[in-house]
Parts: sequence; C-alpha cells; structure tokens
Amino acid sequence: MGLTRKKITIVGAGFVGATAAHWAAIKELGDICLVDIIEGMPQGKALDLLESSPVEGFDAQIFGTNDYADTANSDVVIITAGLPRKPGMSRDDLLFKNAEIVKNVTEQVAKYSPNAYLIVVSNPLDAMVYVAYKVSGFPTNRVMGMAGVLDAARFRTFIAMELGVSVEDVTAFVLGGHGDTMVPLPRYSTVGGIPITDLLSPEKIEALVERTRNGGAEIVNLLKTGSAFFAPSASAVAMAEAIIKDKKRLMPCAAYCDKEYNVGGYFVGVPVILGGNGVERVVEIKLTPEEEAAFQKSVEAVKSLVSKLSL
Ligand code: APR
Repeated sequence: MGLTRKKITIVGAGFVGATAAHWAAIKELGDICLVDIIEGMPQGKALDLLESSPVEGFDAQIFGTNDYADTANSDVVIITAGLPRKPGMSRDDLLFKNAEIVKNVTEQVAKYSPNAYLIVVSNPLDAMVYVAYKVSGFPTNRVMGMAGVLDAARFRTFIAMELGVSVEDVTAFVLGGHGDTMVPLPRYSTVGGIPITDLLSPEKIEALVERTRNGGAEIVNLLKTGSAFFAPSASAVAMAEAIIKDKKRLMPCAAYCDKEYNVGGYFVGVPVILGGNGVERVVEIKLTPEEEAAFQKSVEAVKSLVSKLSL
C-alpha cells in the first residue's frame, strides 16, 4: 500500500474557488474536488486545470461535480460559495443570503466528510464561519475563516512597496474582523525583524493601514463586476497547506475564542498556530489600551452580525 494523497474539496467554483484550485494544484497539496451548483462549470474548470498539469508538471486528480457525494472523505474543505454584493443589496441581504448558502453547503460537507477541516472564505466572513461551526457541529479546532492572512498580505505588500524591499522580508500582524474593524499592529509588523515603527513615520504607517482596511474595496472599485480573488484564494490555500503539511505556522485566522481575548464564544481574527490538528491554539498577546478598544469594537461588530442570524 502506497501513501494516499490528501483530498481537498473547494465549494464554489467561481473566481475564488477556481483560483484556489489552481494554487492548490501547483503546490501539489493533494487531489482536488471542485463543487458548484452550476451544471458543467466545475467539471469544465477542473478538466481545464487538469489539462495544465502536463505543462506545469504537477500530479493530482482534479474533478468537478454538482454532487456532494463526490466530496466524500475530504481532508480539507474550502468554502467559497456565496453571492457577491450587487447594487441595491444591503449588507444584511448578503448576510442572510450567504448564511443560507453556507448553511446548505456545510450540511452537505459535514455529512460526507465528518473529519474534515473547514476553511470558510464566504463573506461576511466572521459570521459565515459561525454558521459553518453551528451547522457542522465540528470541534472548534476544525472550523476557521480566512481573512487575516489576506489582510496581512495586503499590509505586507504596501509596506514592501513603500520601502522598496522584498515582500519576503516583511511580516505584518493584524487582529480583529475583516475590513473596517481590522486592527493592524504596526509595532509587531517588521522588515527582517525591524519594527516598521522604526522605519516609517506614524503618518505613513497610518496611510498604509488605511489602504489595507480598504484593500477589498480598492479592488472592487477597479474590477467593477466582482471582488478580489487572487490574494484571497492564495491565502485560503496557505491555510490549507499549513494544515496538510502540519507546518504549525503562526497565522491570523478567524478562530473560535471564548476566554481568549475575552471574546465570549465567537469567531474573530486572532493569531493561531495552524497545523495538522487545525487551529492548535490561539496565541494571546498583551494589547495596549488602544489596541484592546479597537479589538473589542471588532468583536462587537461580529456579535451584532451573528445576533441577526437564527442559529
Ligand atoms: N453550493 C455550491 N456553490 C454555490 C452555491 C451552493 N449552494 N451557491 C452559490 N454557489 C457558487 C456560485 O454558483 C458561484 O460559482 O459560488 C460561486 C461564487 O463564485 P463568484 O460569484 O465568482 O464569487 P467569488 O468572487 O468567487 O467570491 C466568493 O468569497 O471572497 C468571498 O465575498 C466573496 O462571498 C464571496 C465568496
């Protein structure tokens, strides 16, 4: 008996889902199953991606389906299914519509892959992870959301651009929810270990932080017809890789926090150790009073969204 490959299911074969499949394939993380409700579309994209494998030189089974039975026994499931916001839709409309979608998806996924690790990407993120957690009944170490890796990646990109240094040497630390309530910690964001507070003026840092907070909107305004997908999908796949390879990376993820950071049982962006057991632990750091206040504001925003859902 040889070793078997890991199985990664990606739910939603749209921009984020299909691109996640691409990153996962070229990293040879395992076999990939793409699921969508649109008939033919996941099958077509999967076949197209598979046909790139001889050129790129990766080995994986890649297949698309509309049937959740085909997702059975997945090790990691990345959930990207959901509607993007359209003109005239309120944030609450998106919340309720995507909550319904994530609920249906999670029921199916949990039924066929009861031991999977779930990485939720659908927005509004922090609330959608909560839905996936409640519906799956999975333990908290196996349910998480992707937001912080993306926010940190945007911050790292802007820091590197500003200083003219390699993105590889830039680390960034962010806490809290996605978007408006994100809490970047410049004192823990570094270039080769040097805090950016030693390299950039407070005004410059604030400008980079502001651009990071609006990073999603900046892309939406340019694309006009959709939202970001390269960086979000790369971020979700980086989390899958940390789990599949048991890397024990320290990454900001939307993770379940009860006593941690005094959150009281919600999913919010915190630094975690991500490895073979999923969210192996939440890393708690001491926050300054300002950071603490900003973080609690973020938590309140998440609570308010979740309270609107009947779970
Ligand atoms: N089951 C499976 N797939 C579904 C379902 C469902 N119940 N409902 C919708 N989908 C699919 C759609 O058919 C579509 O192909 O989800 C896909 C979403 O893809 P896009 O519309 O291209 O959206 P995308 O840009 O990929 O964003 C997906 O990720 O970043 C977040 O805010 C973003 O919530 C959005 C999600």
